[in-house]
Amino acid sequence: MKTFNKTLAYKKAQKDIHHSLLGETQVITKMATINCILKQYLPYYFWVGFYIVYKPKELIVGPYQGTHGCLRIPFSKGVCGAAAREQKTQLVPDVHQFSGHIACDSQTNSEIVLPVFNNKEKLIAVFDVDSTEKNSFCEIDQQFLEAILYEQFSSDLLEWTW
Ligand code: SME
Repeated sequence: MKTFNKTLAYKKAQKDIHHSLLGETQVITKMATINCILKQYLPYYFWVGFYIVYKPKELIVGPYQGTHGCLRIPFSKGVCGAAAREQKTQLVPDVHQFSGHIACDSQTNSEIVLPVFNNKEKLIAVFDVDSTEKNSFCEIDQQFLEAILYEQFSSDLLEWTW
């Protein structure tokens, strides 16, 4: 059996996302496509999606792939809330050790949540990936995901569909 090469999978996904979204400016379209491509290349992704900053201190679920996601998350709650509040990536090897973790699906055991900024460095969303295994995410995930999100959302041509 071939061993899974995470770095190689991310390199391919990054290239695919870059080419698929060339010239695309709509935020929702980008989010949906990023979810789809990453989930295809990274087999340990159980849930992947965006929570969008809706009110000053509240996130609403955006495009995602996976089981039913919680609809709204205040900045005061969960790993997503921590990422939004601290504007910093949260790497959680075991969600059961993270005080205040929100279990949208009890199958989740580890996760990574990254802040998403626009070209004015304003927080517009958080990006959440969950796995059913513990310790699924590491600095490799963090580095590639930060690079992909920066490339896709720091353009001054971003548009929202509404
Ligand atoms: N686990 C997240 C909630 C979102 S779901 O996992 C889709 C959290 O604690 O913020």
